[in-house]
Amino acid sequence: MCGIVGYVGRRQAYGILIKGLHRLEYRGYDSAGVALINKAGNLNIYKAKGKVSELEAFAADKDITGTIGIAHTRWATHGEPSTINAHPHYSESEQLAIIHNGIIENYAVLKQGLEQEGYTFKSDTDTEVLVQLIEYTQLNQGTDTKTAVQLALQQVVGAYAIAVLDKRHPDTIVAARKGSPLVVGIGDDEFFLASDATPIVEYTDRVIYIEDEEVVTLRAKSKEQVAQTQMKKEQDSESLIDITTINNVQKTPEIKRLEMSLSQLEKCGYPHFMLKEIYEQPRTLADSMRGRINMQQDNIALSGFIDNKDRFLNAKRIIITACGTSWHAGLIAMYAIEEFAQIPVEVEYSSEFRYRKPVINKDDVVVAISQSGETADTLAAIQLAKAKGAFIFSICNVVGASIPRLSDSGCYTHVGPEIGVASTKAFTAQVIALTMLALCIGKAKKTISNEKYLHIVRELGQIPNKMSLVLEQDRKLAEFAKTFTYAQNFIYLGRGYNYPVAMEGALKLKEISYIHAEGYPAAEMKHGPIALISQEMPVVVVAPHCGTYEKVVSNIQEIKARKGRVIAIVSEGDEVVKNIADYTIEVPSTEECLTPLLTVVPLQLLAYHIAVVKGCDVDQPRNLAKSVTVE
Ligand code: G6P
Repeated sequence: MCGIVGYVGRRQAYGILIKGLHRLEYRGYDSAGVALINKAGNLNIYKAKGKVSELEAFAADKDITGTIGIAHTRWATHGEPSTINAHPHYSESEQLAIIHNGIIENYAVLKQGLEQEGYTFKSDTDTEVLVQLIEYTQLNQGTDTKTAVQLALQQVVGAYAIAVLDKRHPDTIVAARKGSPLVVGIGDDEFFLASDATPIVEYTDRVIYIEDEEVVTLRAKSKEQVAQTQMKKEQDSESLIDITTINNVQKTPEIKRLEMSLSQLEKCGYPHFMLKEIYEQPRTLADSMRGRINMQQDNIALSGFIDNKDRFLNAKRIIITACGTSWHAGLIAMYAIEEFAQIPVEVEYSSEFRYRKPVINKDDVVVAISQSGETADTLAAIQLAKAKGAFIFSICNVVGASIPRLSDSGCYTHVGPEIGVASTKAFTAQVIALTMLALCIGKAKKTISNEKYLHIVRELGQIPNKMSLVLEQDRKLAEFAKTFTYAQNFIYLGRGYNYPVAMEGALKLKEISYIHAEGYPAAEMKHGPIALISQEMPVVVVAPHCGTYEKVVSNIQEIKARKGRVIAIVSEGDEVVKNIADYTIEVPSTEECLTPLLTVVPLQLLAYHIAVVKGCDVDQPRNLAKSVTVE
């Protein structure tokens, strides 16, 4: 989704802005642009459809000087991807420039009013309406830029993270957010602004997360101020940041330390971030468990649970809400929580839940799952549940993101930045976190036997090593992949804990190889998908040695009887399926509830290799966004 970068300081801004846009490429985008104010006070805007490299090529022979600038990658909502619709947008007088992430829902009404006042529009975007509204407010009410931004935003319905340049104030960026993330980085006599911390991390680890309906003004020091360096740096930078609400209530900036390293944002020798992230999983899973599972005492301690034990023990129901891959992790958690904690669980797509007037009670626990912690629908779902008095527990990866900040409690997955758009390491860490939660509740409620609890805790400790063994089959999967690039469709089947894995495998394939794929509960095949099976149709069956194994074997027989081509994921030593399926991948045996952590890995690799053979853009698949900050 759209990416925002801003810089004001004493260095040349362009290089910092372009590098920042590259760091944000993973969010997904279709055009890019930059605005700079040069020494002479000119406000220059350069934009291009396509990749950031196309913007660089376009701007190469232009004036790209200036120590203040804003830049943007756009993911089209209002208006097709084009150079005109790309951000930044000028105001009518070209005194102001704006970049925007989000949607201005009442843009049509605002636009009509501005047109009546003589304003003209060059683009089809809602964003251009906002910059015109700011200028109109500024001129009509004789206000400064910050006040004009505040007053304009008071009229806006929708979501936004914006940054505004005013050529009359070539040392100042005014930015604001509601519903879309915005982070300020504090350097030495300079400020960085971005949609997330990835463009900031190489310059500073001191950040301020801007809250909803806050307006931040970032001002660079003048030469005279730089000369007077008696003041302590921290006080100094703070004095040049002003944060208010859109209603002009003064706020105190709260500086946080960023826990992210630059190496986490590099590919480290892998051809794609996705492959790097698949391979990182044995380590990231160990990281997710570190400090939470005490292997000597066979005990799990999740502080977010311990501090709020009663809310879980008194819960009549747990509602899990999430989108995409995170929703699949939630579905696996439903099996685990119902099995071990015996609390009824409902798993909801956040986008449906938030609008279907759900019954939410004060004794419900709502578990929100989100890698980014910024998904607009999941954020809205927990806002709704919170307003109805439910207890909100979130499982997130990005520390300090909006969802964990709005939650009553939670658990970070700690897998580091996930850059590949197709989620892999975040998914397995979510499953681990949710399994630990299910076990904690079950133990506290005594709904799981001590023996079973201890066995699963010990098995959890084995998972990173077992996952490394699965990764050793990468080459075999790369070979299989070559066979299947012809396919137009795939079916993925699984049962119980592995039904969500089948859906996740299908999603991975769709996302990065553009092959249509359906994930189905294996037994449901007879109620429809079986009609599709022919020798053209690859069917991936997730069939580890679990409770319903024999039934899944029967499904495989049914597919083979109709000449379907079966790729089976089985437990090590399985001879039965090996003799029927066309291709098999073995995974080490483990407790049934933990099998998804191993069976999903071959599906991630299969999708990856098929996409590579097809020549697809694995890390930045078309139309997809890593963090969906608009609904
Ligand atoms: C987008 C991403 C998916 C992700 C989903 C939910 O669709 O491309 O990979 O699963 O959003 O994102 P979240 O950050 O809330 O887990």
